[in-house]
Amino acid sequence: MIIETERLILRDFQKSDWKEVHEYSIDPDVSVFMEWGPNSQEDTLKFIDNAMSGSRQKPRRLYELAVILKGEARLIGASGIRLFPNEPEQADIGYCYNKNYWGKGYATEACRALLGFGFGQLKLHRIIATCDADNYGSSRVLEKSLMRKEAHFLRDKKVKGRWRDTFLFAVLSEEWKPSEK
Ligand SMILES: CC(C)(COP(=O)(O)OP(=O)(O)OC[C@H]1O[C@@H](n2cnc3c(N)ncnc32)[C@H](O)[C@@H]1OP(=O)(O)O)[C@@H](O)C(=O)NCCC(=O)NCCS
Repeated sequence: MIIETERLILRDFQKSDWKEVHEYSIDPDVSVFMEWGPNSQEDTLKFIDNAMSGSRQKPRRLYELAVILKGEARLIGASGIRLFPNEPEQADIGYCYNKNYWGKGYATEACRALLGFGFGQLKLHRIIATCDADNYGSSRVLEKSLMRKEAHFLRDKKVKGRWRDTFLFAVLSEEWKPSEK
């Protein structure tokens, strides 16, 4: 399972990836908007195990992929697409990157590639993504990936003791025009 973009390779996780994942998963700035983290070593190993067992599922429903920066042959983050359990023609996208690599367009490049994979290979009908309304970087990634903001839920989710707002972005297969990306 490999998706290649101009600067990145998205591939299935291997056990040996855990150290590079752990490097950013222990950073409190990285997980501030996430339900998880900062991670213990055990948490990171569980994440890798879950991603690897997802890759062995048949039919496959979870594509949690390691993002490798081609130029440095280095793992800089994770980005995934997960089919809805009861509606496998819909999926949601998520991502997380090492802070040293933020602001260079990598998350947007990988997100667009995953949308292309979801509509192209998986023949999905609709792909969504959600983010904390305060997570400006993430909502920019989704806007720049040409997803539509469909909803703003008010104080719908408690994360790390705080009731937070959520943005929901979506795109339909008929709206997806890879040539414009
Ligand atoms: C959100 C995240 C994925 C963005 O990754 P990235 O590689 O920096 O994203 P891109 O460079 O493709 O684009 C992000 C946009 O947000 C901006 N941005 C990036 N980091 C930012 C930050 N810390 N604060 C404010 N803006 C930021 C970028 O400038 C860019 O906007 P622009 O094109 O208008 O300049 C990354 O910050 C991250 O991994 N955060 C922690 C995990 C997380 O929040 N995941 C999303 C959960 S929904």
